Amino acid sequence: MKKTHTCGELKKKDQGATVTLMGWVQTRRDHGGLIFVDLRDRAGLTQVVFNPETAPQAHTEAHGIRSEYVLAVTGTVAPRPSGTVNPKLPTGEIEVHVTGLTILNTAKALPFMIEDDTDVAENLRLKYRYLDLRRPSLQKILITRHRITQTVRRFLDQRGFIDVETPFLTKSTPEGARDYLVPSRVNPGMFFALPQSPQLFKQILMVAGFERYYQIVKCFRDEDLRSDRQPEFTQIDLEMSFIDQDEIISLMEELLAAVCKEVKGVNVALPFPRLTFREAMDRYGSDKPDTRFGLELKDISDIAKATDFKVFLQALEPGGAVKGFAAPGMAVLSRKEVDDLTNEAKIFGAKGLAWIKVTDSGFDSPIAKFFKDGQIAAIAARLEAKPGDLMLFIADSPKLVADTLGYLRLLVGKRRNLIDETKLNFLWITDFPLVEWNDEEGRFDAMHHPFTGPRDEDLPLMESDPAKVHAKAYDIVLNGSEIGGGSIRIHRADVQSRMFSLLKIAEEDARKKFGFLLEALEYGAPPHGGLAFGLDRLTAILTGTQSIRDVIAFPKTQKAICLMTEAPSRVSAAQLRDLSIKLDIVE
Ligand code: AMO
Ligand code: AMP
Repeated sequence: MKKTHTCGELKKKDQGATVTLMGWVQTRRDHGGLIFVDLRDRAGLTQVVFNPETAPQAHTEAHGIRSEYVLAVTGTVAPRPSGTVNPKLPTGEIEVHVTGLTILNTAKALPFMIEDDTDVAENLRLKYRYLDLRRPSLQKILITRHRITQTVRRFLDQRGFIDVETPFLTKSTPEGARDYLVPSRVNPGMFFALPQSPQLFKQILMVAGFERYYQIVKCFRDEDLRSDRQPEFTQIDLEMSFIDQDEIISLMEELLAAVCKEVKGVNVALPFPRLTFREAMDRYGSDKPDTRFGLELKDISDIAKATDFKVFLQALEPGGAVKGFAAPGMAVLSRKEVDDLTNEAKIFGAKGLAWIKVTDSGFDSPIAKFFKDGQIAAIAARLEAKPGDLMLFIADSPKLVADTLGYLRLLVGKRRNLIDETKLNFLWITDFPLVEWNDEEGRFDAMHHPFTGPRDEDLPLMESDPAKVHAKAYDIVLNGSEIGGGSIRIHRADVQSRMFSLLKIAEEDARKKFGFLLEALEYGAPPHGGLAFGLDRLTAILTGTQSIRDVIAFPKTQKAICLMTEAPSRVSAAQLRDLSIKLDIVE
């Protein structure tokens, strides 16, 4: 017996045809005489009908059918009797009158129903992921993911990119997270690191003369997980030689436009807008701003300086800032609700949240008394606040002000339904600082990774004023999520050495960790640069899902556990002995 059709394709024009369908039992309804089964496969649902008069044997067997049994049915396509057409179903005009039934397999009682609208706990869904993945909505997401990767491969192939695989058993790459380590049995006491990205290998491929490389590749990072982070995730990773930042950016825009066209059918406008890192931080308090709504932050430090409000004055003194924005329609908030907002701000380390309500009759705020004539009005004008708005302010170091207000802006945007979910707002962030100060360690860290090139004109500042050096780095943001990032790399060994000394990575350490790269740079390394997209995040946004777990067939939980396989797990004493590993765990 052969499957002749899918359960999603039969139409009225097929009436009279003899077909064989194979799939899973979605539902079975026994109407005394007739038995109706909705048979499901990847393509959809078809109603099949067992009639005791025309097919007594199949009808008898159909009594034993349960949800998720696997069936092969042969029958004739027939129009549904009038009044029973289901316009919501693509196959809703027809049904199949069964002549033969084979039960290919049975199924135990299910832990949950296979339905799109499910409120089943995610942990149960992840344990029985094969059942969860039978849900059409998840299948649709994974099919969309496939279409994204196919579009990417086609596009990059046409543009001369070569897919090269790079090792998983390798040395640590400095992308800023912890490594997953793999012990080497044949080299006792030695460990491989799973790559946090193929960064070093793709640069080496440029030195090797490939000119255009890409790979859709797993990356491994042992970091604190969130809804947009997984310990293993997938990058669309690429690298090119003999290009500059603008060339990469415009090629990547074409790639993303091709993906949006393929999976959403939309023509996104090119070129994408760009903001410098500074502008993004100033206007949105974030290096990945969601530009689908306004609520831009405004600096009121100059006005604050002239007030009698100690909180503002004390923050400004050591080089701080006072900024704010107007939350539309939120003047109606109760004291308790404002306190709740204040508590949100405190999560970011803010010492408080200053607020002024704008009403038809003036301003209402416990801090109004600290302002002189016209000062509040001047602030309201700067924030473009209208009656009914709640003006919110944070006074602190510029970074804390940005982080806190950036978060509050998003919170208000969501609460006030200001976000147009139909939009696809791509945005480049450019001109990142090369390094950022790490207070704990008392040294600079690379803002991206240590192979990111400084801007040529800033090279002389690398030693004298490192904080002022800009990187040839760029991030791509979609709807407030960082979906990719890259840079033009350092291709000269001398500049790379200067970068390591700026980061206080000792020459010897650098040689130990990345000696192979440093050496490669000395053998005719071409100028090169590239970028990596986070495929999971991109897919999540394009499919409108909240969590990247929904776009990964077998994801891990927030605790980095696979509930289906129960990995990670203990291993036998013999395995440990082979690996020369002795555990010392306090039970
Ligand atoms: P970066 O570290 O910015 O750059 O990573 C690129 C993109 O990968 C995605 N991403 C993640 N997605 C899910 N879970 C995670 N834990 C996770 N971490 C990162 C993000 C991010 O923008 N080698 C450089 C790229 C380059 O310079 O070419 C790199 O890995 O969407
Ligand atoms: P206080 O004088 O401490 O009672 O604070 C008066 C108001 O200013 C309260 O609403 C505080 O939440 C707020 N506030 C305190 N510190 C800050 C700050 N650093 N930035 C903004 N508002 C603050």
